[in-house]
Amino acid sequence: MAENREFFYRRLHSLLGVIPIGIFLIQHLVVNHFAVYGEESFNKAASFMEHLPFRYVLETFVIFLPILFHAVLGVYIVFVAKNNVRRFSFFRNWMFYIQRITGIITLIFIVWHLWETRIAIGMGNAELDYSLMEDILSTPFMFWFYIIGVVSTTFHFANGLWSFLVSWGITITPRSQKIATYATLLVFLAVTYIGVRSIIKFAYGI
Ligand code: HEM
Repeated sequence: MAENREFFYRRLHSLLGVIPIGIFLIQHLVVNHFAVYGEESFNKAASFMEHLPFRYVLETFVIFLPILFHAVLGVYIVFVAKNNVRRFSFFRNWMFYIQRITGIITLIFIVWHLWETRIAIGMGNAELDYSLMEDILSTPFMFWFYIIGVVSTTFHFANGLWSFLVSWGITITPRSQKIATYATLLVFLAVTYIGVRSIIKFAYGI
């Protein structure tokens, strides 16, 4: 019974990492990328998101609660759970550990990012516009903090997609897992480019 429950929670953890958290991540980075086309474009896109109907319901059930569940169980998996030693290649074992390390870095990054954006805006201490991110990213320290945070998150998502496909029995054969390695590498490069590109624009205006 307890094993069944653990199986269910692990499956839910895996699913939430892709739907809705992974989808939200892509959507969030794509909206940020409007910054590359100029201040006005970003402000329009951000304001559209800010004025979506049922915004608080969406934020709570599509973003906040899934991330909270995934993060809490994620920390448990990293520090407490006993993982079955998987019989994968040397490369895959490394990916397995980096998945856990990037989970922790991503958690630190998300908490900080949330604090200085969504929470600051909610408390009336900041306004959601281009200059908010321009100010945040104005020091080299914060620039690199955001670069590391975003790359950690995109790696965690793309590599997580690979293990999601295994967990859900979608890629079973070694050949399909190899194809998935290349496909998720492409996902990593594309999503990272989108995320990093807007950070450079906010920080240096180029
Ligand atoms: C934007 C944020 C995040 C996204 C998009 C995301 C996405 C994913 C995905 C897709 C997986 C693969 C699921 C599977 O193995 O079947 C995963 C696994 C994992 N995530 Fe996250 N995650 C995020 C944040 C976090 C955070 C904050 C933590 C906290 C430490 C975390 C810890 C983990 C762990 C430990 C695993 C491995 C689970 C296992 O191998 O059984 N994740 N994540």
